[in-house]
Amino acid sequence: MSNSQSVQALFEPFVTGKMTLSNRIVMAPMTRQFSPDGVPGSDVAAYYRRRAENGVGLIVTEGTVINHPDASNQGNVPHFYGEAALNGWANVVTEVHAAGGRIIPQIWHMGARGHVGDYSESEIAALVQGFAQAASEAKRLGFDGIELHGAHGYLIDQFFWEKTNTRTDSYGGDMVARTRFAVEVIEACRRAVGPEFPIVFRFSQWKASDYTAKLAETPELLKQFLAPLVDAGVDIFHCSTRRFWEPEFEGSDLNLAGWTKKLTGKPTITVGSVGLDEDFMTLFTEGKGANHSNIDGLIERLERQEFDLVAVGRALLVDPAWANKIREGRTAELVPFTSEAVKTLY
Ligand SMILES: Cc1cc2nc3c(=O)[nH]c(=O)nc-3n(C[C@H](O)[C@H](O)[C@H](O)COP(=O)(O)O)c2cc1C
Repeated sequence: MSNSQSVQALFEPFVTGKMTLSNRIVMAPMTRQFSPDGVPGSDVAAYYRRRAENGVGLIVTEGTVINHPDASNQGNVPHFYGEAALNGWANVVTEVHAAGGRIIPQIWHMGARGHVGDYSESEIAALVQGFAQAASEAKRLGFDGIELHGAHGYLIDQFFWEKTNTRTDSYGGDMVARTRFAVEVIEACRRAVGPEFPIVFRFSQWKASDYTAKLAETPELLKQFLAPLVDAGVDIFHCSTRRFWEPEFEGSDLNLAGWTKKLTGKPTITVGSVGLDEDFMTLFTEGKGANHSNIDGLIERLERQEFDLVAVGRALLVDPAWANKIREGRTAELVPFTSEAVKTLY
């Protein structure tokens, strides 16, 4: 298989003190809205199990919401509280582990109904407690860690971003002050799960309402932003970008995951359009060619340890066997993503 060597870096084990994965491929968190009344059923468990059976190293579940009145405004998004939903998640864990996989839930709050400035300090304390409760349930249910959703303009990110956080108390102000809410959430989760349980933190520059937004315009500001999160107890950063090959700052080709690893020393997950480019597929079938920015660039970056793990979203949403097909060079069998695919739990 001429291409098997070229993808080898994706299939090296990932070993840290707290987490061991059989390879570097992570299923990105993707909201699917197939959980009636917030309860993930056997179809959802089977959907995740198929990814575990087909060689995904780590599954991050779709965002699943904490117990708080504002946490969700979308139907059929799974809850991470209440007996029925938690039993559903316990079954998901059982199925994924039975297939030899690893899985962490993405703990989510969709954001303030009005403005984060409207929350009183006691409401903030209740929100923090909601995240900690979810973390504690994740550990009890046998998950392999948690991911906190601090990206894309949802609650935690609303505190980070100056446009949505105009608070004048100690939860607002400069970049470091705007991390206070996240720091409290991470610290409370850490207390709830103990020192050995992995905490992944997902963040992004971009917001669902503004793809060009930036929390940190320079590496120095990014460093200021990340340092308190590291101190609070994050083990792995999941750096959400829409295209993994885009340099984050001028003067270096490092992407956001590359900079985050360099500035914190923590392992990082990259993400963004892996496997979506048509050239990505032809490169596998026809050898080196047109577009070096995609798969070649990904493997080279992974080999030089710019980041540690690679999250794959849409390509894995439509094709449960994506990871094994890549490993085995069965690229002619890859299923292309279309927007129709979100209607089905393949
Ligand atoms: C249908 C769909 C649902 C998503 N839901 C979430 C989510 O719940 N939480 C999250 O952090 N990102 C979510 N994302 C973003 C993905 O995790 C990922 O970052 C993005 O799709 C880019 O990766 P890709 O190009 O490999 O698809 C979603 C993306 C899609 C396509």
